[in-house]
Amino acid sequence: MGDIRRVAIIGASGKLGQYMVEQCLERGYQVVAVCREQSVSKLERFAGRIELLPGATNDREVIRRAVTGVDGVLTVLAPWGVQQYSSGTAQAVMDFAPVDARLVFSCGWHISRDGKDRYDWKLRLMVPIMTRLAKLARVVEIDDQVEACRRIFASDTRWTVVRGSDLEEGPSQGLPVWSEHVGDPVLASNMTRRVDFALFMVEALRDDALVQVAPAIVGRETASAREHRAAAA
Ligand SMILES: NC(=O)c1ccc[n+]([C@@H]2O[C@H](COP(=O)([O-])OP(=O)(O)OC[C@H]3O[C@@H](n4cnc5c(N)ncnc54)[C@H](OP(=O)(O)O)[C@@H]3O)[C@@H](O)[C@H]2O)c1
Repeated sequence: MGDIRRVAIIGASGKLGQYMVEQCLERGYQVVAVCREQSVSKLERFAGRIELLPGATNDREVIRRAVTGVDGVLTVLAPWGVQQYSSGTAQAVMDFAPVDARLVFSCGWHISRDGKDRYDWKLRLMVPIMTRLAKLARVVEIDDQVEACRRIFASDTRWTVVRGSDLEEGPSQGLPVWSEHVGDPVLASNMTRRVDFALFMVEALRDDALVQVAPAIVGRETASAREHRAAAA
């Protein structure tokens, strides 16, 4: 468990980002938040409690300033690529964060680290489309999140890529459970509260067992997670 005092949150104004800001402040961490200029007002309620750096999250100078001297970086990889938004963001975070900083990135189940994930019909339909888009991305940059993750997986930084299931709003159910591969029975329910996705990201900062791991997560009170617990007991 590393010691965390100062955390940069990249993409802080989104739904996931705002939960992470709240949870970091609750833990007494200093928070440096980066979000797009037009989204600054979404963080108004944190005024005076966070340092805010408005700017595109793939602006290397903004990221360099945000991550200087931090112990951890929580990065929301924007789902769709616009001008290498996700990969530019991820690259800048990896280039400028202190070497020993914990880097935690968000994405979805459709990202596969080793190709051993097994998808149900819905995701099976989506994944070839995503993969096709990823190939096209080299030309038209449609799914840049795939490229971002490819670069993260290849890096020797202290990264964790948290792969979220489908998400819903609602009160916390506690820390999600996870598995290394989509298709593992524990994940079958494919649902996580967004607040708990944030919780997993924030807790991962202090969990060295998750360094260079890409956990796929699911809500701890979902049917599949409960069944898995019961079977283990
Ligand atoms: N939604 C799901 O069901 C789902 C499922 C699994 C995983 N995830 C993952 O969870 C994370 C959060 O996703 P979310 O769906 O919950 O949304 P979210 O938290 O609201 O985050 C969306 C982020 O993308 C930014 N964004 C939106 N449009 C943009 C644009 N045109 N250019 C640049 N940035 C843009 C937003 O910034 P602004 O505040 O400036 O708009 C925000 O930081 C993502 O990494 C996603 O891959 C989501």
